[in-house]
This record gives sequence, structure tokens and C-alpha cells, in this order.
Amino acid sequence: MAEEKEVLILAIESSCDETAAAVVANGRRVLSNVISSQIALHTVFGGVVPEIASRKHIEAIDQVIDEALAESKKTLEEIDAIAVTYGPGLVGALLVGLAEAKALAYAAKKPLVGVHHIEGHICANYLENDFKPPYVALVVSGGHSHILYVKDYHTYEILGRTRDDAAGEAYDKVARAIGMGYPGGPKIDRAAKEGNAEAIAFPRVYLEEDTYDFSFSGLKSAVLNYLNKEQMQGHEICEVDVAASFQAAVVEVLVAKTIRAAKEKGVQAVAMAGGVSSNSALRQAMQKACEENGFHLQVPNPIFCTDNAAMIGAAGYYEYCAGRRDGLDLNANPNLQLGEK
Ligand code: KG4
Ligand code: ZN
Repeated sequence: MAEEKEVLILAIESSCDETAAAVVANGRRVLSNVISSQIALHTVFGGVVPEIASRKHIEAIDQVIDEALAESKKTLEEIDAIAVTYGPGLVGALLVGLAEAKALAYAAKKPLVGVHHIEGHICANYLENDFKPPYVALVVSGGHSHILYVKDYHTYEILGRTRDDAAGEAYDKVARAIGMGYPGGPKIDRAAKEGNAEAIAFPRVYLEEDTYDFSFSGLKSAVLNYLNKEQMQGHEICEVDVAASFQAAVVEVLVAKTIRAAKEKGVQAVAMAGGVSSNSALRQAMQKACEENGFHLQVPNPIFCTDNAAMIGAAGYYEYCAGRRDGLDLNANPNLQLGEK
């Protein structure tokens, strides 16, 4: 019997500060995953500067796509569909990837499939393995924090979300306050390993007893107040203790709420996604809690946690298989909500 042909997706991602392209087979096998990061450029400014991001995407995108195709050893003609992030994100940044995807789709006569960036992060869990729904997912990135019940590839329920800052945003702001610079998450992760997580009792914000929502701005303010108070009293600040104590407060709440959601939904597996899910303390604590409660924990390889196009290829594959096709009038939507098409 002839082998069934694999579905090949060329995926493009440019929603923030990474210009990325990938070729993914059947939503799982990563044939190439090229990421051109602008982080070094934005570090000087302490955060992402939208205008610079757009310009750098324009400069990088052709080469990134060429490399992704070359590395995959596939030609554009062999590709079945082109998947692209169309929101949420920085509008000028999104438009670069979207315009490129439309041009390629039109020129090569390939279907265009728009992908939600956060659905991409979730689908990173399917890359290079055979993990399947149902499960409860914790999505924690620089712009989003959600707990979702993923029933199947296309059906999910939002159980909770942040009411103010996203988890990654809190990491970045606290890192800036203790002079660690941008992007703060990986720096706090590293510094916390040297510090005492019990040195400072920062608040654990659970909100109402029955909610899966988060709030991180109170914790961020507690850290800033602590720093101010210590400085005013002429005390020397132990940055690694602040980093470890802040991180412990974030991780405890993320883990507790995710586990409670998984129990309530009666699933057997928990997944994590988004930039913050590469955090070593969060991975460790979630692994321990999952073992104690009998859940399988699925976490993407760190390279698929932060922004990349392979995850867009995975999400795009499931959209493509469900028959989704977008027209050349598809527009970037910087505020695209989960579940909105
Ligand atoms: O998913 P992502 O790459 O971009 C968005 O879609 O937002 O997430 C970026 C966020 C940043 O806030 C960054 O500080 C955080 O993820 N991050 C981390 C770690 N690596 C990245 N936060 C904590 N620990 C890490 N190891
Ligand atoms: Zn992201």
C-alpha cells in the first residue's frame, strides 16, 4: 500500500520580536525551525520597541523563510498550506508576516491559514511527540496567562485568565526593578537559583476561592514597595533573594490553580505553554504536583516554549485539516481573543 502523503505546512510567526519560519509535517514532525531574534536590539531600550520590531521583521523575513525551506529540504511547490500568526501581537509586526504569507500563498497558489498566536503556543505541545487532548493547559507568556480546558484539537474552554499583568510581564517588570534588564524571565530564573525563596514573604494572590483567574499586579507592587522600603532604610538589597521569593509566589499560585482545574475537569494530563513555561522552578513544581496527583505533565521543549513558527505549523495543521481557509483579505488583529475567528 502506498504511504499516505504527509501534510506539509510552511508556518510564519512575527507577532513580537522574533522573526520565525518553520516547515512542519502532519502537525508534529518539525522539518525546520528558524528563529531570528531581535532581543539584543531591544535590550538597549529595556523592552520591545514596536517600530524597530517591524523594520527588523521586514529585513529578516525573506531570508528566514528561505532558510526554513532549505533546511526542510522541501520546495514551496511541495508545501500544502501556509500558516501565519494574525493576532494577537504588535500590529506592525504581525502585518509583516501576514503580508509575506499572503504574497507567497497568492504566488504559489497555496491555501492560507490564519493562526491565533496563543493557540500556537498550546499546540507546541504536539511537536515531536504524540500527546493528545483532553487536558488542562496553563498558558503563560509575556502577554497572556490562561488556564484552559482543551477538550479536543478545536474545542476548548477558558477557565481562567489574568485580570491585570501577564505572568511574563510581571517577571519582566520585577527584573527591571532589580536592575536585571530585559527580558527578565530567564534572568530571574537564573538568579533565583542562587537565592533563598523564603527570604521575603511576598503575597500569594489567589483572588476568590472558586476562581481560576490570576492577578499579578499586586505581587509586582509588593516587590516594588519592598525595594523602596529597603532602599529608604539604607539596607543593601539581595537581588537573588528578591528574585527567588518573587518567583516562589508566582509559581505557587500557577501550580495550585492548574492542579485544581485538572482535578475539577477529571483529565489525566496537564500541559504548559508560552515563554514562562520554560521557567525551571515552574517546571519542577508542576512536575512534583502532577506526580503527587497522578497527572501526566506535558511541556514543550524550551525552544518551542518561546515564540517560534513550528508551533504555528502545528496549530495551522489542525486548522487546515478542519477545512479552515483564509482569503487574501485576512487582516492582522492585535487584540484577537482566544476562541474568536
Ligand atoms: O511566549 P513568549 O516568548 O512571547 C509572548 O507571546 O509573550 O513569552 C515571553 C515571556 C517574557 O515575558 C519572558 O520574560 C518570559 O516569557 N520568559 C520567562 C522565561 N523565559 C522566557 N519567564 C520566566 N522564566 C523563564 N525561564
Ligand atoms: Zn508568544
